[in-house]
Amino acid sequence: MAAKEPHASIAGVGKYLPPKVLTNHDLSKLVDTSDEWIVRRTGISERRVADDGVAASDLALPASQHALEHAGMTPEDLDLIIVATATPDMVMPSSACVLQEKLGAKNAGGFDLSAACTGFVYAMAAGEGFIASGVAKNVLVVGSECLTQNIDFTDRTTCVLFGDGAGAVVLKPADGEREILYTFVKSDGSGANLIEIPAGGSRMPSSHETIDNRMHYLKMNGQEVFKFAARTFQSLVHDSLTACGLTESDVGLIVPHQVNTRIVDQAAKGLNIPKEKIFLNLHKYGNTSAASVPIALAEAVEEGRLSKGDILILIAFGSGLTWGSAVVRW
Ligand code: UT7
Repeated sequence: MAAKEPHASIAGVGKYLPPKVLTNHDLSKLVDTSDEWIVRRTGISERRVADDGVAASDLALPASQHALEHAGMTPEDLDLIIVATATPDMVMPSSACVLQEKLGAKNAGGFDLSAACTGFVYAMAAGEGFIASGVAKNVLVVGSECLTQNIDFTDRTTCVLFGDGAGAVVLKPADGEREILYTFVKSDGSGANLIEIPAGGSRMPSSHETIDNRMHYLKMNGQEVFKFAARTFQSLVHDSLTACGLTESDVGLIVPHQVNTRIVDQAAKGLNIPKEKIFLNLHKYGNTSAASVPIALAEAVEEGRLSKGDILILIAFGSGLTWGSAVVRW
């Protein structure tokens, strides 16, 4: 798909991380692992964990308020709220409706979007579509996850990777500033079993047996996902630039889904883009699934890593398998 007339702009960004920190050292007391192994194999040093009883909408609220403040808007300005999450407050109603009430966004519609780690990029593309069609003007797009509740803290191959958090952007109609030049989404369901939470849905409803067998926890084929992620990272950057008639030298900053520094290192080898132009904060937060791209974007903005007019590329990939990207002129 080629770039088109911009329909939407990013008006504001925000993030929220729960305060409780779980370090690699803490994990080494739970499973047979070490700070040295986790840092060397993933780049992660610590991650945040939401307290018991805290749900995706609770993390989404401060991130959304932050994004609205940055956009200079009030909750009443919103027409639509999309929450990308794999860990909604409950099966129904949507976390977006719960968030709407907490925010006081009384003029907005809301729904949740499920595309795992790619969820935020899908939600941005969806939000842009609502603006392009005229159905909505101002759209709050949130990625929020309480993923550690679905992590098996007896499984060292997964428990070291994931964390909790939320990030948000406010989209408004294109106004020549921070315009979204391109969005792209794709999936391949033949890889559905590579990252999954098998129980708790209609295929395998919750039962004593599913709980006894630890089927409500995330299962992952790490090596296969690693290969998919490294390959996809490169092609997303390359194809997004090509679609926009840009080259690697035009890139101001890439904000990727935060998974593993080795994936970034491997992908960067095939791209003619200096590593300093790839924003990483996964050493502090691990993989926060749908929240990882908006948290990283908000942090990049806080750190002054984007200047007016910069070409920003957002990329994400994950369970589904799903992948997607957005190109923004900042
Ligand atoms: O959002 C997308 C979701 N996920 C990802 O993108 C994750 C992609 N995959 C990865 O990042 C990597 O595959 C992992 C970090 C999950 C694993 O790293 P790896 O280098 O692929 O390790 P491996 O699976 O090949 O395992 C090597 C060894 C194994 O031991 P043996 O069988 O060689 O004795 C594992 O049991 O490392 C062992 N191992 C660990 N050792 C210490 C696996 N996890 C750990 C651990 N601590 N936490």
